[in-house]
Amino acid sequence: MKLSDLSTPAALVDIERMERNILRMQSRMNSLGVNFRPHVKTSKCVEVTQAQIKAGARGITVSTLKEAEQFFAAGITDILYAVGITANKFPQALALLRKGCDLKILTDSVQSAAAISAFGIANDIRFKVMIEIDTDDHRSGIKPDSPQLLEVAQVLAAGGAELYGVMTHAGSSYDLNTPDALEKMAEQERSGCVRAAERLREAGFQCPVVSVGSTPTALSARSLEGVTEVRAGVYVFFDLVMHNVGVCTTDDIALSVLTTVIGHQEEKGWVIVDAGWMAMSRDRGTQKQTTDFGYGQVCAADGAPLAGYMMTGANQEHGIISRHGEPDLAIATRFPVGTQLRLLPNHACATAAQFPEYQALTAQQNLQTWPRFYGW
Ligand SMILES: Cc1ncc(COP(=O)(O)O)c(C=O)c1O
Repeated sequence: MKLSDLSTPAALVDIERMERNILRMQSRMNSLGVNFRPHVKTSKCVEVTQAQIKAGARGITVSTLKEAEQFFAAGITDILYAVGITANKFPQALALLRKGCDLKILTDSVQSAAAISAFGIANDIRFKVMIEIDTDDHRSGIKPDSPQLLEVAQVLAAGGAELYGVMTHAGSSYDLNTPDALEKMAEQERSGCVRAAERLREAGFQCPVVSVGSTPTALSARSLEGVTEVRAGVYVFFDLVMHNVGVCTTDDIALSVLTTVIGHQEEKGWVIVDAGWMAMSRDRGTQKQTTDFGYGQVCAADGAPLAGYMMTGANQEHGIISRHGEPDLAIATRFPVGTQLRLLPNHACATAAQFPEYQALTAQQNLQTWPRFYGW
């Protein structure tokens, strides 16, 4: 099948770019001397994850137990479920453990640690548990210097659980856009997580794993002393938000939505395409950044960016494309009905999630269909 035969909208993966992104991250991790555990929530796709493992990744990170089940079924056993767990998910986690999955789970409270321990004792198993550390005031986690850290470790040690390590994600790195600020954030992420591990060890607990990471910090860290593994997810495809953060160029973005021109409003300088928010998602992540790309950057069918053209409006299945600044009154002749275009996404994880499968484009312009899954 050729690109021009595809029904649109379609989620296109440029395999060459994806491989380049994988290699870039893996070589960086190799030279910094840490294991790399990719976050597979971005792609939710076995083919993509296999490419990451082939390049040297050790284990994976997941955001849902469904991802854990799917990747375990595909033969991956070393899995970190990096969202705080609650009791209603214990049976799903237990089933994975009983089948032989080396699942690690996450807690950031005495209450949930106690529930994990009690469930472990009741079921005669020991969950491997990581304590989530808050190194950037971004989301969840325990502050590195909080007394709660040792309390959680104590509760885990007392019962049916094994303290596997500490884990942090400096998601506030997405708000930055200079190399200096990113480097500082990477160091804050590293030092906070290492500090938490040291406090645990000083108090007599084992803390073998120190896990940090987000795409911007992973690509900006100068030293990862004391860290044993890094996690990153969106780097595999990159997107316009990462472009604005400054860690990739538009030429690195491996995911795009292939769309077809279905009409025009010539006097307004609009092209109407068959990709709306159902294809791109409602994510307007670049809105608060230095360059607002609307719902996406427009590219020609071969992937070359068309400077100034972006998707400025989105209905469910209609997208409006226009030129930034002066309207392009010749837009109908430039992009006649039937023209195929590619749209680069603001947020690759959100756009990918709109599609049941990827159309993966090889360097020879051949297409392969790669399934992706969804749900919990
Ligand atoms: C816990 C955790 N680790 C790692 C990541 C990967 O971050 P990124 O997609 O910026 O690489 C995420 C992303 O949300 C996350 O939630």
